[in-house]
Amino acid sequence: MKITIIGTGYVGLVTGACLAELGNDVFCLDVDQKKIDLLNSGGIPIHEPGLEEIVARNRAAGRLRFSTDVAASVAHGTLQFIAVGTPPDEDGSADLQYVLAAARNIGRHMKEFKVIVDKSTVPVGTADRVAAAIREELAEREAKVDFSVVSNPEFLKEGAAVEDFMRPDRIVIGHDDSHGGQRARDLMKLLYAPFNRNHERTYWMDVRSAEFTKYAANAMLATRISFMNELANLADRVGADIEAVRQGIGSDPRIGYSFLYAGAGYGGSCFPKDVQALERTARQYDQELLILRAVEAVNDRQKHILGRKVVARFGEDLTGKHFAVWGLAFKPNTDDMREAPSRVLLRELIERGATVAVHDPVAMHEAKRVLELDLGTAKLARVRFTDAPMDALDDAEALLIVTEWKAFRSPDFEEIKERLKHPVILDGRNLYEPDLMTGVGIEYHGIGRSV
Ligand code: NAD
Ligand code: UGA
Repeated sequence: MKITIIGTGYVGLVTGACLAELGNDVFCLDVDQKKIDLLNSGGIPIHEPGLEEIVARNRAAGRLRFSTDVAASVAHGTLQFIAVGTPPDEDGSADLQYVLAAARNIGRHMKEFKVIVDKSTVPVGTADRVAAAIREELAEREAKVDFSVVSNPEFLKEGAAVEDFMRPDRIVIGHDDSHGGQRARDLMKLLYAPFNRNHERTYWMDVRSAEFTKYAANAMLATRISFMNELANLADRVGADIEAVRQGIGSDPRIGYSFLYAGAGYGGSCFPKDVQALERTARQYDQELLILRAVEAVNDRQKHILGRKVVARFGEDLTGKHFAVWGLAFKPNTDDMREAPSRVLLRELIERGATVAVHDPVAMHEAKRVLELDLGTAKLARVRFTDAPMDALDDAEALLIVTEWKAFRSPDFEEIKERLKHPVILDGRNLYEPDLMTGVGIEYHGIGRSV
């Protein structure tokens, strides 16, 4: 099938590459000329396991193209996927300017029937606004062309995006019952047929329910994490081990094990903004989502947990003190620093007068860029970036772990002890067993593990 992807970011690039891998003819559009040039020269703008190979293979086969040519992009695909960003507006609601700009471009150039697929995470009612924008553009040039807008939210996780896209738990598609809606349904069915071969994974529903499903999923996951973080903080006080508790409750199939890990708070481009946007939608309908307000507040507080533990152990004034930090990305297997808890920790340490040596397996470049914005050049000079994790440890009062990269799971604890000034680990991701740490002579503080 001929497919256009509008917005070649995390979601757009993964979607485009994976659909090309299945034999479709994919045209990826972006407004960012640098990104398109990079992709056309064989580069890749994001770190995502497995993606580079798929992009290279499908470019070579002529099934995957990157361009900034709007008219050509509209002419190409019968299916026009909108996968542009929906960042938070000043008041926390989703900023739809990029989605609506994409819709207008389609309306301005389309000459025959198109299915517009909203893949971006958008508030309930956005498909109607996309349709209205297209209709306005058609009316402007007095064109009569049929189209249909469907909602097909994306559930992939960064760091596992290719795997998630290729083996989805579910495919949610919202469409309407008009003639165009039926045509859209048939085309979407054909497109996703390879994913449904062994068993049907598609959930067909009305457009608003599909839009809502995406926010409900992210809000539910964020709620689990914040709830576990609150329990972990209580476990610390009452002398219980949140890891034992996690297993004890996760074994109940009604609860399940996933997304029950207490830690340094959730980050990334999605949970924080989607929780806020759903709260905002509720307010527009005179409802207050009390649980989500708490989820957000707990997470904001949790991002300070390592900073609080540092203060409790080393005092409020950290002038002249030096710390090692492992992990900067908001989660492993990505170089994404958006809303990363490490940014909150680093700001706090630097504000209190400390110096820091940091290491991340892939996010160092992106971290430098982002931390320069957060801290300014003068303060960034107090952060040293080390290529090897162990090199961050020399003369540090303690090692602080913010992201659970695999490479940190089995370090040489003797070397850690030798290189640190004091053998202290403050672990924001509960990577190690407390009794094992006591055994090797390391003072260990996890999250909710003060048994
Ligand atoms: P991103 O910022 O990585 O990419 C968006 C891209 O769209 C950018 O390259 C930008 O230049 C481009 N763009 C903006 N306006 C454009 C226009 N008019 N025409 C063409 N290109 C345009 O964003 P992302 O992380 O891929 O997220 C996209 C959407 O998908 C968001 O709504 C997000 O909530 C949702 N989502 C993201 C993830 C994720 O893991 N990142 C997962 C599921 C859903
Ligand atoms: C999340 C969802 O998992 C995806 O399904 C969704 O498509 C995506 O948002 C989106 O809408 O963009 P992502 O943000 O890539 O994906 O990463 P997650 O694996 O969900 O992790 C998010 C944050 O939660 C990370 O900071 C992670 O460290 C934290 N987390 C996750 C926990 O603190 N505990 C857990 O048990 C799980």
